[in-house]
Amino acid sequence: MPFLAFGFGLVLSIFSCQHEPITIEGGNNPIDTTGNNPIDTTGNNPMDTTTMGTPCDPDVVYFELEVLPILRSNCAKSGCHDENSAQDGVILTSYEAVMATAKVEPFDLNDSELYEVITEDDPDKRMPQPPNPRLTSDQVNLISTWILQGARNETCDPGAGGCNTDNVSFSADIRPVIENNCLGCHRGANPVGGFSLETYEQVVAQVNSGRLYGAVSWQSGFVAMPYGADSPLPDCSLDKIKAWIDAGAPNN
Ligand code: HEC
Repeated sequence: MPFLAFGFGLVLSIFSCQHEPITIEGGNNPIDTTGNNPIDTTGNNPMDTTTMGTPCDPDVVYFELEVLPILRSNCAKSGCHDENSAQDGVILTSYEAVMATAKVEPFDLNDSELYEVITEDDPDKRMPQPPNPRLTSDQVNLISTWILQGARNETCDPGAGGCNTDNVSFSADIRPVIENNCLGCHRGANPVGGFSLETYEQVVAQVNSGRLYGAVSWQSGFVAMPYGADSPLPDCSLDKIKAWIDAGAPNN
């Protein structure tokens, strides 16, 4: 998979070179003069083609990157809102399915049923249904901001401008990735797969068995995680997980 992505990026970069005069005309200088050096000097591969994507705007909530992982791991489960179960006709596995079935009204929280059910106090109506825990307030904020920004399907490259893998921290870098992408399934008294990833110790147990990185990097011999996703986590998230594991998976 990384090889495929690399090959594709290479084709893209050759392609964009052929069109250089056009980008100059448009004033879109392909040579970055903003001090955002496209050549990664952090010791990562300087050929890393992920630096060529659109940088993520910290003020924008991105559906594929931030909203879908929350929905997929908390809601799009078997028996709930995956394609086969489709409870109440709601399918939460892709942008198209969410927009077609989850009654999202762009810019309008009051008319968005998706927002209503995740903030509902009545346990009979609330999603995810008890005994599953509520979404965290950060997760609710991401979803509501996405709706208020127009419920669009914008994409960006979290590795654009370089992926900083120095001093990766469990609490600041690793734990949020796990929270949004994994905990919907691997949490609670009856976690999917038979184990939880809620605490540092539980994560480290999966790191030490080699299963965590094997699963998230989609190596053969492991079940690819996040389960049911059509692509692995963003390259920068994987690079950070790897750097953290290589540093001895500290509780920092
Ligand atoms: C939609 C539910 C779901 C999500 C989200 C999910 N998992 Fe899993 N996970 C599973 C299931 C189901 C299995 C057991 C698969 C099997 O044994 O066939 C599993 C198994 C695993 C395994 C063992 C894999 C192996 O081959 O031994 C690891 C490690 C793992 N998950 C980590 C993660 C991590 C890390 C994330 C987030 C990046 C994640 N999972 C997200 C459902 C999920």
